[in-house]
Amino acid sequence: MALYAIGDLHLHFGSELKARGQRTDRLWRNHEERFRKNCAALIGPDDTLLLAGDHSWGKNDAECAPDFRYIEELPGHKVLLRGNHDMFWDAKKTEALNRRFEGRLFFLQNNFYPFGRTALVGTKGFCFEGPFWLDRRGRLAGWDEEAKERADRLVEREAERLRQSFEAAREAGFHRYIMFLHYPPTSILERDSVFTRMAEEYGAGQVIYAHCHGESRFHDSILGEKNGVRYSLVSGDYLNWTPQKITD
Ligand SMILES: [Fe+2]
Ligand SMILES: [Fe+2]
Repeated sequence: MALYAIGDLHLHFGSELKARGQRTDRLWRNHEERFRKNCAALIGPDDTLLLAGDHSWGKNDAECAPDFRYIEELPGHKVLLRGNHDMFWDAKKTEALNRRFEGRLFFLQNNFYPFGRTALVGTKGFCFEGPFWLDRRGRLAGWDEEAKERADRLVEREAERLRQSFEAAREAGFHRYIMFLHYPPTSILERDSVFTRMAEEYGAGQVIYAHCHGESRFHDSILGEKNGVRYSLVSGDYLNWTPQKITD
């Protein structure tokens, strides 16, 4: 029984592909088929696959249906986290999605997923992504204060959802946690954040995040060990569409 994670499938079997880079970039060529094959080679029926957000470009149920079918047909138990592009997943719809896909897919938000004696907890998260101003040498010289304030409010709301997820697991008797975010846990201005502090507070062994696409973004946030927590980026193009084993 192993746990694997990957994010940002950005499927579009039933919808228009909106990201030009996804059409032209070598890393994205035929990524659905490569990912399917990598999962079949790695993941068994008792394993769990956590998909860390940005599942589908679809805007509604009809456009998402073939993408959901593709995900359902992947091996193992599938747990889905909400990404910023997941238009099908209004924050208030999580319970309805869990009822609709019961026994097939689990949607992780304000709740937790039991993996042996460990609880998988998580939320979409958020971080400030600019606009930033650079000086002539390309160094960070300032940023949009209003956008930063807006981002801070979204961070606060997501932190509440994450705490709800931890508390639901704790009330159910769990003491071991692995924490998932779609967004990176820190913005490029930060060394820590409400999310990293919460991981430390609850003693989460690992923080797994996605969202960062393209080599220039792969080092936006923490990678490796920090204050006893191991941080991993699992966006699909970073992993070249091979799910990362998180734990046995
Ligand atoms: Fe993405
Ligand atoms: Fe994203």
